[in-house]
Amino acid sequence: MHTEALDTAIAHVEKTGFIDIELDPSLDLFAEIEKLKKEKNAVLLAHYYQEPDIQDVADYIGDSLGLAQQAEKTDADMIVFAGVHFMAETAKILNPGKKVVIPDFKAGCSLSDSCPPPLFKKFKEQHPDHVVVSYINCSAGIKALSDVIVTSSNARIIVESFPKDQPIIFAPDKNLGGYINKVTGRNMLLWNGACMVHEIFSLEKITKLKIRHPHAKFIAHPECEEPILRMADYIGSTTGLLKYTQTDSAKEYIVATETGILHQMMKESPDKTFIPAPPENNCACNDCPHMKLNTLEKLYLCMKYELPEITMEEELRLAALKPIKRMLEISQQAGI
Ligand code: 13P
Ligand code: SF4
Repeated sequence: MHTEALDTAIAHVEKTGFIDIELDPSLDLFAEIEKLKKEKNAVLLAHYYQEPDIQDVADYIGDSLGLAQQAEKTDADMIVFAGVHFMAETAKILNPGKKVVIPDFKAGCSLSDSCPPPLFKKFKEQHPDHVVVSYINCSAGIKALSDVIVTSSNARIIVESFPKDQPIIFAPDKNLGGYINKVTGRNMLLWNGACMVHEIFSLEKITKLKIRHPHAKFIAHPECEEPILRMADYIGSTTGLLKYTQTDSAKEYIVATETGILHQMMKESPDKTFIPAPPENNCACNDCPHMKLNTLEKLYLCMKYELPEITMEEELRLAALKPIKRMLEISQQAGI
């Protein structure tokens, strides 16, 4: 059913980032989304940082590697990506023939934004003997300038696949790069980028919290800064953190990453307690403002109208595909 308001919303989707129309509040969005999945042979992939309602309706929830692997192997006609832009873009790079939609096109990433391709190209030209290893949290433009892509769950193995004396540029996350330098004994040249969510944890408040909860384990994502990582009992990707809480014997965890992951942790281990690591300010700073742009309403509308859609020039797609494929191959060989 087309109305004037809907036509305007569709025409303005590039400006708004999403289909901006009011929905009947009595609509059962969960049931409608399930219906649309079947009607359109669509698969709904969601990252752990999405709001709980979106996680609950997803076909697959995962970390960046898991999501890329699911995108690579799906036989759905449409991929609905409830995550941020670089993730949906990666799905499109892997699936040129499929429609890839995202609930809010403006769901970006501060880390990805910290590495603009023209600046990075110049940086790379200054170090012609270096190979480029890029964290998946970057644009297709950066991927196209990279030799291999990594995520937080395979970065160590992929970096170690290069000879010890191979000079490496690591972009864009200086914190993950620094952590990988530490665990591998490498000296990769780091691009000075960081994630706004993982840089706000307060060392002082976490220390106090640990004193108040002496039996709690402290677990952290490697995008956190080095002093925070130094305190951690376990460091890993979102999937790694979740699995750790499922298999470890502790009953309490202080979790230094985006709060969305706590939903799955509580679902998987209802008898355990999960405390979000406190940020510097008294705000909800460990909610990613980009991830949280996606809502159940926007998700329903993007599935219904198949907008906003991720599109890409073929030349860029092919250049970005090569390092992603290399990552997926190495991960498969390593059984990750
Ligand atoms: P992973 O889920 O791969 O650990 O990545 C976290 C993240 O910051 C995604 O933006
Ligand atoms: Fe980007 Fe950080 Fe948000 Fe992940 S949590 S999408 S790295 S800004």
